[in-house]
Amino acid sequence: MEAWFAVLALVAIADAASISGSTHFDTIVVGLGASGTAAATELAHAGKRVLALEAQGRVGGRVNTVSLPGDSLVEMGAEWIHGQDSSVTYQLALDNNVTVLRQELNTITLRSDGGVVDAAFMEDIMNFAMPLMEEDPATPEPLGAFMTRRIKSYIKERYPSFYADEDFIQQLLVFIDLIVDSHVGSNNWNDSTTHTQYVTLGGNQEMSWHVYGYKTLFEIMMNTYKNGPGLPSLTIELNKEVTSIQWPQDSESKVVVRCKDGSEYTSDNVIVTVSVGVLKERHASLFSPALPQDKVDSINGIPLGVVDKIVLLFAEPWWPKDTFMGFVWKGEDREKVPEEDKWTTMILGANPPMSCERALTLWTCGEVAKHMETLSEEVVKAKSVELLEKFANRTIPKPVGFVRSTWYSNPYTRGSYSFDSLTSPSHPSLRPSLASPLTDSAGKPRVLFAGEATNPIHYSTVHGAVETGRREARRLLGQ
Ligand SMILES: Cc1cc2nc3c(=O)[nH]c(=O)nc-3n(C[C@H](O)[C@H](O)[C@H](O)COP(=O)(O)OP(=O)(O)OC[C@H]3O[C@@H](n4cnc5c(N)ncnc54)[C@H](O)[C@@H]3O)c2cc1C
Ligand SMILES: *[C@@H]1O[C@H](CO)[C@@H](O)[C@H](O)[C@H]1NC(C)=O
Ligand SMILES: *[C@@H]1O[C@H](CO)[C@@H](O)[C@H](O)[C@H]1NC(C)=O
Ligand SMILES: *[C@@H]1O[C@H](CO)[C@@H](O)[C@H](O)[C@H]1NC(C)=O
Repeated sequence: MEAWFAVLALVAIADAASISGSTHFDTIVVGLGASGTAAATELAHAGKRVLALEAQGRVGGRVNTVSLPGDSLVEMGAEWIHGQDSSVTYQLALDNNVTVLRQELNTITLRSDGGVVDAAFMEDIMNFAMPLMEEDPATPEPLGAFMTRRIKSYIKERYPSFYADEDFIQQLLVFIDLIVDSHVGSNNWNDSTTHTQYVTLGGNQEMSWHVYGYKTLFEIMMNTYKNGPGLPSLTIELNKEVTSIQWPQDSESKVVVRCKDGSEYTSDNVIVTVSVGVLKERHASLFSPALPQDKVDSINGIPLGVVDKIVLLFAEPWWPKDTFMGFVWKGEDREKVPEEDKWTTMILGANPPMSCERALTLWTCGEVAKHMETLSEEVVKAKSVELLEKFANRTIPKPVGFVRSTWYSNPYTRGSYSFDSLTSPSHPSLRPSLASPLTDSAGKPRVLFAGEATNPIHYSTVHGAVETGRREARRLLGQ
């Protein structure tokens, strides 16, 4: 399923051999997700000798395009380009004549007893509720508290008969909470703040790489798209887990990077692009000398949310075409679900991905996603089918393919994307401080940091990650 990455790796390793005998590089990039790939390729384009060390057996990190039986692609990580205006990723697609398309889904809101929520009501409520995520009341408060208050008073005023159904309102709020969580990455909408630093790019928020796959972004950056020749001064090593980064205080010594397999490389500087979740777990053993306290505070203070996908492939679609099916429980049905299956009541809904109309993606977040990751694939598949049958109020065909993400258990990600917690408004410099390089006595940057979490305004996205990779490459190029 990762054949294209393997091909890239072979090309790159052949290049490495041509400069064999030397293990010193201008720059070592740790991690080949969106930010690392952007940094490494920008430096290589400028003629720098770059070594990119990636722990996993593929390029892409939190972008992971996988093939399902029958040659259809699905995205287990990032799905869309969020916004078009000034988007570095949208621009790369345009420049390379890759037609990304807006994914437009109809919505239908199903209930656990087989009923359907009135479509006009739902549309009005969601059109009111979703923009609340962008509002910024004078006093920061938990997003959930703010949205609950506003949504309740809106429904009370306009839809008194719906408002009178307390259980419905309760369950509807749980549903909207889950939608917010899947956007933000939070476990509960009260874990994130109304006062977020995130800046939304103009234009459509759901631009899809559809049948090309998000992997195309990496082929473009690495100059391998359409059989491009790659970048001669970029050496890529996959399955290379970095375990230690020794950085000098004096201006003469080199940076020494060691890997789990015992290999050792030196460079003038290193760009670290691992997720803030990986940093939380390993910074103490990874860096020598240890990171300064402000860096550690940033690492601890920026939460990394978890969003997971469960993808079921069917012989043919049995659901209404191009439709997101939202799941709003009835309290009594939710209670009847056995304890061990309660996680299924926190799956917000399902929709076909744009790359494959025979597939359905079910979305989970936070603690529920973490729990889902611990269950066997057989259980997750069977319970997902049960859930779909309950809400669709019919029997459905047996899936012919299955894949689910495990972004939290993956030791090289430990989560999906970062968000602004309740304490973020009083600590506005967490992300800039994570982004600031460690310098030697001559003031030269030796250890630089990129990755979505280091982006003060476009964190949690692919375009935001690419921006940070370019930022650090340009810092080294003196631009
Ligand atoms: C389910 C999901 C849905 C998403 N949806 C969207 C979306 O629709 N649109 C959007 O814009 N964004 C989305 N995102 C977010 C987006 O994918 C990320 O923000 C972005 O890909 C992060 O890139 P990065 O380079 O910062 O980090 P990563 O992609 O995590 O790259 C870091 C790399 O470092 C490697 N690494 C880790 N430890 C080591 C080590 N010790 N040694 C060597 N290498 C190491 C990792 O394997 C990884 O490849 C989604 C993410 C997820 C998980
Ligand atoms: C994109 O298409 C235009 C017009 O057909 C062409 O001039 C250009 O060279 C193409 N660019 C790439 C990168 O293929
Ligand atoms: C669910 O489907 C059954 C059988 O088709 C039907 O009788 C029932 O009315 C449906 N339930 C609802 C709430 O629509
Ligand atoms: C969020 O906070 C509000 C206000 O404190 C509360 O009413 C609501 O129940 C909370 N929601 C969740 C899901 O915890």
